Amino acid sequence: MPKLTIPELQSWKGKQTFTMLTAYDAPLARLVDDAGIDVILVGDSLGMVMLGYKGTAPVTMDEMIHHAKAVGRTAQRAVLVGDMPFMSYQAGDLAEAVRNAGRHIKEAGMDCVKLEGTARQAPIVRAIVDAGIAVIGHIGLTPQTAASLGGMLVVGGGSQAAAQALIDDALAMEAAGCWAVLLEAVPADLAALITKRLRVPTIGIGAGPHCDGQVLVTHEMLGLFPGFGLPFGRRYAEAGELMRRGIAEYAADVRSGTFPGPENTFPIDAAILKQLESE
Ligand code: KIV
Repeated sequence: MPKLTIPELQSWKGKQTFTMLTAYDAPLARLVDDAGIDVILVGDSLGMVMLGYKGTAPVTMDEMIHHAKAVGRTAQRAVLVGDMPFMSYQAGDLAEAVRNAGRHIKEAGMDCVKLEGTARQAPIVRAIVDAGIAVIGHIGLTPQTAASLGGMLVVGGGSQAAAQALIDDALAMEAAGCWAVLLEAVPADLAALITKRLRVPTIGIGAGPHCDGQVLVTHEMLGLFPGFGLPFGRRYAEAGELMRRGIAEYAADVRSGTFPGPENTFPIDAAILKQLESE
């Protein structure tokens, strides 16, 4: 399977929509990559679906790297994106932001990083890009700071000023050197307008069908984490329910004595056993 590249994905703009899903460990990275998904995001959503946090804010850089390494070791074809967790780039120290982005490339084998923000984060994007690291700018609903911005709301649809601000954020991310801009929870027609205005690809989640790429959180779309849901996803499988049934079946078999069966059991030479029993 030849490895996809960022320039290849950029050349698809206006011709072919690319697919993107999250993965945080080797088994899921293998499944997603083998299914032909074009981009794998090691998202900070792992805080909720892997680590049991209530949101993404507590996720640390070390936790991101631990999971990104597993994906980096496994995936062959997809372009790999490492998410920058909360406070890994926002404290005002550009060198710290560049060093943390570099860890995703150097230690985990990611192809690029993603960071949340607005036009205000453009200088951080520029510093990381200048260090030779490709960046996706994530605008619109930005879960790391959603609480301080009023909650998990659709962004840009309320007024002309809000829509213009989002367009400005997208243009600022592009001007700062982002290779793609991710739009989360943005009205579909506004996302279409931004997609038309940008030279680089847009990637949508809850942003309608006109973006250049589409992303979902895999645990949510496969039903792997009961109770975890995003309002703009679609459920493609009930893998969690399938797993729960398998686990319950195993427990019932152990309790009834039907597991382990003869096929799961190692024999011992009958003569040796007889000798042991006679002692
Ligand atoms: O962390 C994540 O999974 C994300 C997606 C919601 C795009 O940022």
